[in-house]
Amino acid sequence: MKVLVLNGSPRRGGSVASLLKTVIRNVSAEHDIEWIDVCGLDMRFCTGCMVCREKELCILPEDDAHTVGNKIRDADALVVGTPTHWGNMCAPLKLLFDRNVPVFMGESPRGMTAPRQKGKRAVIVTACTTPWPFNVILPESRGALRAVREVLHYGGYKIVGTVTRPGTKKSTEINTSLEKKANRLGGKLVQS
Ligand SMILES: Cc1cc2nc3c(=O)[nH]c(=O)nc-3n(C[C@H](O)[C@H](O)[C@H](O)COP(=O)(O)O)c2cc1C
Repeated sequence: MKVLVLNGSPRRGGSVASLLKTVIRNVSAEHDIEWIDVCGLDMRFCTGCMVCREKELCILPEDDAHTVGNKIRDADALVVGTPTHWGNMCAPLKLLFDRNVPVFMGESPRGMTAPRQKGKRAVIVTACTTPWPFNVILPESRGALRAVREVLHYGGYKIVGTVTRPGTKKSTEINTSLEKKANRLGGKLVQS
């Protein structure tokens, strides 16, 4: 299977990157894993022209959003990591998704949507400074997860699980139970 990891964090040694590495640690070597640092991509903003809904391709000049869009299309499974920014997913990841709407869903002239990646599996990871349980009560990491879920649901992905590291201001350590959960989800991602 082809597993694509989308790391939305600009901090390569941060909590999101650590969680992503923990998820893929349990994906056996027979699978093909590709890691993309989304913050390093060269992408123009979406202009909202809506032409992609008809042409099924973004008409902006070729950039990394096209390249990674094709990788998302080709991948059998996704691991999406985002730091929680303003109770939402981070801007670079959102931009990648904005530029690739037709990769995730088709849209009829009457506005009906159809998933384009139906049945593929995905895991979402996030981290935030707000400690538990406030990261969930106030929609902090909960907001970031909801935002990524929204995109993946439109794509028809089956989300096999999510991993959240709250309270990163106090400690960035990935404790044993979080590590176990991340490992388990990595296994579920590629289970036949
Ligand atoms: C622009 C910005 C916005 C943030 N917004 C929130 C937020 O809404 N809630 C929160 O709990 N933490 C917020 N944070 C903190 C990050 O989520 C936190 O530092 C997280 O651990 C980052 O993950 P990383 O270490 O993998 O980059 C924000 C950080 C930045 C830079």
